[in-house]
Amino acid sequence: MKLMVIGGGGREHAIIRSLKKNPAVDTIYCLPGNGGIAADAICVNIGATDIDAQVAFAKENAIDYAVVAPDDPLALGAVDALTEAGIPCFGPDAKAAVIESSKAFAKDLMKKYNIPTARYEIFTDCAQALAYLETSPIPVVIKADGLALGKGVIIANTLEEAKAAVRSMMEDKIFGKSGSRVVIEEFLTGPEVSVLSFTDGETVIPMVSSMDHKRAGDNDTGLNTGGMGTIAPNPVYTPEVAERCMKEIFLPTIAAMKAEGRPFKGCLYFGLMVTADGPKVIEYNCRFGDPETQVVLPLLESDLLTIMQATTNGTLAQTEVKFSDGCACCVVLASAGYPASYQKGFPITMTEETRKHTFVAGAKLAVDTLVTSGGRVLGVTATAPTLKQAIDEAYRLTEGVQFENSFCRRDIGRRALEAMEG
Ligand code: AMP
Ligand code: GLY
Repeated sequence: MKLMVIGGGGREHAIIRSLKKNPAVDTIYCLPGNGGIAADAICVNIGATDIDAQVAFAKENAIDYAVVAPDDPLALGAVDALTEAGIPCFGPDAKAAVIESSKAFAKDLMKKYNIPTARYEIFTDCAQALAYLETSPIPVVIKADGLALGKGVIIANTLEEAKAAVRSMMEDKIFGKSGSRVVIEEFLTGPEVSVLSFTDGETVIPMVSSMDHKRAGDNDTGLNTGGMGTIAPNPVYTPEVAERCMKEIFLPTIAAMKAEGRPFKGCLYFGLMVTADGPKVIEYNCRFGDPETQVVLPLLESDLLTIMQATTNGTLAQTEVKFSDGCACCVVLASAGYPASYQKGFPITMTEETRKHTFVAGAKLAVDTLVTSGGRVLGVTATAPTLKQAIDEAYRLTEGVQFENSFCRRDIGRRALEAMEG
């Protein structure tokens, strides 16, 4: 079989490694891929949002199955266009992808179907938003409605900060069009859990839970990033929490999307907070998380391609989805300065042992040498029977990769270990 994966980060590298385990797979193309992915797939210089070129490529190369991984092409209708052209593919159509691309849609869906989430109001008028803030409890959370590269969320600790955030989104348009509508919501507290799930629009099967580490610095200090590391499973996600999530959140969300005429197929990502009142939805993503995928898929024992095809065909209920009982840890190595400005172009050296555990995010090939080309450069994943062993092994493996100006958090998984000790 010939497969095509759209995207070019660590998540896509992890997806490709898992797809390759199926012996029926002969060739995997990655559009556009990156210098590290090139060791596992044929990278094709077509951008992740160049949907016309993707469809033309798929037809010319008789692609049997496509996987659309990032949020942008999903929101732009890559799955619709490929399906229309007769290429079966993994991911939601544009109508369903709106669950991530419009926070206002997601919040209204949860309100209508009684799915637990933070209380909120939606505003399109700046003066009304500012007036509302005068009466709302502080801290308060301000979110730009549309996709804002994960940066459209501001937690304001004072009324002044909250007003400044609303003005910067609605008047100064710091997130562009995304800020013409804002969601103002209640600040929740509690540990966060990421749960990715497979769904065919009817059946939903949660994957092993995980925990992201979003801040750049140790002990959750510094700026928000795309994610500096992950562990799985997340100890906060006990069997009792899992049962409540299934009943109060996962099944109702899938049913709600179907009832709205937007059946969701693909990977639905539940960003949850376990509050004193029980689990609540912080956000939905219409795709695999990055770097959650880099710990979740290495624990998947069943065949990824078979499961993905079942989400497309509507046969997920009859498909085996089994995860190992083990644990995984992914440590991201980033360029010094990230998520603000950083230098690139530094050669990367890696031992063969570490390479096998590495998912490359921001690196390109300069002739035959892999050089850094992004903020998050790569993630090193280890799996082991216990979380402590997985963490120790991931950090040991990071010693096998070097590039100038690299940094990583030293405390990935520490909070999870503390939670286990109670
Ligand atoms: P999001 O982009 O929606 O995932 O938000 C980014 C981060 O902001 C989340 O991972 C949470 O840590 C935090 N956050 C978002 N919404 C809330 C909320 N209502 N209460 C507390 N923290 C929140
Ligand atoms: N790691 C969070 C995300 O993929 O959005």
